Order: sequence, then structure tokens, then C-alpha cells
Amino acid sequence: MHQLNKNIFITDFKVFGGVIMEHKKGREGFSSGIAAFFATLGSAVGLGNIWKFPYVVGENGGAAFLLIYFICIIFIGLPVMISEFYIGRKTRKNVMGALELLAPKRKWKSIGIISMLASYFIVFFYSSVGGWVYSYVFKAIKGDFYEVTSKSAQDEFVRTIIGPIPPIIWQVVVVTVVSLILALGVKNGIERITKTLMPILFILILICDIKALTLPGVGDSFKFLFKVDFSMLSGSVILMAMGLAFFKLSLGMGCMMTYGSYFTKKDNMMGTAAKVAVSDTIVSLLVGIAVFSAVFSFEMKPSSGPGLLFMTVPMVFSKLPFGTLLLLVFFILASIAATTAMTSMCEVVIAYYSEQRGMSRRKAVLLNAVIILGIGVFATLSADASSLLGKFTIFHMRLFDLFDFISSNILLPLGGILIAIFVGYVIPKEDIKKELSNEGKLKLDKLIDAYYVILRYVTPVLVFVVFLSSLGVMEKLIKLFS
Ligand code: TRP
Repeated sequence: MHQLNKNIFITDFKVFGGVIMEHKKGREGFSSGIAAFFATLGSAVGLGNIWKFPYVVGENGGAAFLLIYFICIIFIGLPVMISEFYIGRKTRKNVMGALELLAPKRKWKSIGIISMLASYFIVFFYSSVGGWVYSYVFKAIKGDFYEVTSKSAQDEFVRTIIGPIPPIIWQVVVVTVVSLILALGVKNGIERITKTLMPILFILILICDIKALTLPGVGDSFKFLFKVDFSMLSGSVILMAMGLAFFKLSLGMGCMMTYGSYFTKKDNMMGTAAKVAVSDTIVSLLVGIAVFSAVFSFEMKPSSGPGLLFMTVPMVFSKLPFGTLLLLVFFILASIAATTAMTSMCEVVIAYYSEQRGMSRRKAVLLNAVIILGIGVFATLSADASSLLGKFTIFHMRLFDLFDFISSNILLPLGGILIAIFVGYVIPKEDIKKELSNEGKLKLDKLIDAYYVILRYVTPVLVFVVFLSSLGVMEKLIKLFS
């Protein structure tokens, strides 16, 4: 607490009998627990559920992978998410401001720097994929997916990513939509949009699943997702599952810290974290059931890789009765997911620009859009292997893959482990207990104790394994190609 007091004169906090209170005016936040839940879910549910989850589960053999993924969510995802919420809500500041306030040593501020770098690296390639998804909505409306064959599905995807102009235009469209939401502010923008769109997204997924239940492949899809075959497990499968857990729950880069800083002091942070993790997993499973039921009904392989969403899905869905309509529904839901997730990534830096750098929110949003498009365009152009930029590689990765690799495999695990160690070993336990239990109003003693033990002794060890393996992969890659 004395550490906090020391900073009082440079913050907008006041101390009343040792309890830190915030000035009411000046900073926006979510208006209720439900709003906080939907906003956080809007961040978690994204292209990760719709694009990454099905293909990664498909490539790694299904149920055994899922089981490991669930374990990662419980032992890594939840503790890191709760810790990020703690840092955010305790300080009610952007990532850099929060660490400045809480951290006794300047080195902890590196978490903030890692966070911001990771936000940008992810947004650079995420906005490309977001653009493809938007363009598929447009194509579905135009009726481009009528009677799709495997060849035409592939051609369509290649046309989508080949530049220079169309993918860039779609990227500009996505960034513009996200910027407009951000410019409206935390309450009028993020809160209102997620509260409206998340229930719609859920209904659209249910429509796809109801259709899936009528397909012959539905039994096989359940078997694939839920019948565990341990022979499929290997070291690399376990590591993949951990990486996916980070990406899925938007962890390790201050996203949940920033959103946590908008929670009210009445919100139950542990409850919100659990609800978000469970809901996000349900969304992934529902998308998985829809996708794999269609895939198995046409005797296709589930393991077709990143093209599953953009090639296999249009092909199999278009063969169903009302298939083109279903495709439209599916890509609309993917666009919603991509938009709300991207909004959350950008909010990390917007909060920083406006609170630490004193910019107006509008200026911050504009600057952010210019940076994303200025660099993200190169990621988009590099996705086309035949282009000039597609041939340009660093560590034998195209820019698109490099941005994904640096963020998911290096920066997120690094951010995650530092957050776990910081909250687990630097913050006094009493402080954590007080904040998580809302000054004792919530009776969560046993849960908080369990969280604390896992945070200190389980999470960092597991994350360390992911992190090392990422570096190992990098070394191998460098060796392999040098
Ligand atoms: N969770 C989102 C998804 O599944 C992506 C995302 C949003 C994210 N914010 C993040 C990933 C922060 C990592 C870190 O698509």
C-alpha cells in the first residue's frame, strides 16, 4: 500500500483510511456486470473460435487435443485472466499506467511494453484475416458460392488474398469499422456493440448447429470432438493446445487488464473470468460441431489446415439445402467475432495513447488506424506467396506468419508468465484477496486460495514450457534453413 501512496500525487486517486478510491468523473467504464461480461466475451470470441479452433483441433486429432486444451484453460487461462482483471480493476488505468502504479521496480513496466508490441503484431495480421472474412460476406451476398467445387473454392480463396488492391480495401474496411466503434468510447462504443452483437452471434451459431444436427455426419463430428484417443497425444500437440488457450482468451498482452480497468468495483472478477472461459469454449465447440458435421457428411478430411474456413467450409456448406444462405450466416457471425475481438486489441493502445500521452480519444483512434494500416498492409500483401512481398522472408517466414509467430509464440507466453509472476510473487496476497472478494463482500476465500496456489506454482511452470518450446521451434527453424 505504501508503494501506492507514494504515487498519489501523480495519479487521480485519493486515499481514505487506506482504501483507494477513484475520482468518479473523467474515466469511462462498463456500466454493469453483464456489460463487463459481454465486452470480455466479445474480446475472447473471435477468429480464434471460428478460424483457428476448428483447423487446429482438426489437425491435431480432435478429442485428446481438446482435453489438453481444457486443462490449459483451467490451469493457465483462468489464473492469468483473473490476474489481468486484478491489475486492471485495482488501478483503473491503462496497461502502462497500471504497472507504473503497482510495480515497485521499473522492470515490471516491460509487461506494458510487451503488451503493446503484441497488440500491434496481432492486429497487423488479424486485420488481414478479418478483411478476408468481410469479403466472404460480400461474396456470399453476391452469390459467388453457388455450386462450389474444390477447385473453385481454392480459386476463390486465392483471388481473395491476392493483392494488391482488394485485400487492402477489405482491410481498410475492417479497420474503419473497428475505429468507429472505438471512437464512440467505452460505454457507447465497446459496451453497446458487444451487448448487441454477442447474443446475435450466439443465435447465428445455433442456426448453423440446428442445421448440422440434420446432417448424416453429425455423429462422426461428436465422436471426433469427444471420443478421446490418447495415442494422438504428443509433446507438440500439448504445446499447440497451450498456445491456443492464450490466443483464445486474449491473454498475455494487457487486453484483459484494460477491460478489467473498466469493471465496476461491484463486479465479481473470478465469476466473470469463469463465465467467459466457459462461454468461449462453448462457442468454439458449437462452431466445431457445425463445421465438422458438414465436413464429415461429405467425407472430407477434418485436417485441411488454415484453409478450412475459407475453402472447405464454403465447399461443403454450398452443397446443403439453403447452403448459400447458411454460408452468409456463417460468415456474418465470423465477421462479428473478428470485429469485437479486434476492437479489444486496439483498446489496449488507445487507452495508453489517451491516458498516458494525453491525446484525445479521437486522435488516438486515428493514430492507431494509421499505424495498423501503414504496417498491416505489408502483412496482407505478404500473404500472397507469388507476390514480391510474399517472397520476402525473415527467418524463412513471410511477414504475415512472422507477425503471428512473434506475437502468439513469443510475446503472449512471455507476457503471461510475467503477469503470473508479478501478481503471484510481487503483490501481497492480502491485497489480492481484498480486491477479488470486493473488500470481503464476496465469500470466495477457498477459491481465492486455490487460485493463488495455482498462480504461483502451476501456471508459471506450464507457461515456461510453452515459452521454451516456442524458442526451440525458432532455433530449429533457424538451423533448418541456415
Ligand atoms: N481471442 C481472440 C480470438 O479468439 C483474439 C484476441 C483478441 C486476442 N484479443 C487478444 C489474442 C489478445 C491474443 C491477445 O480470436
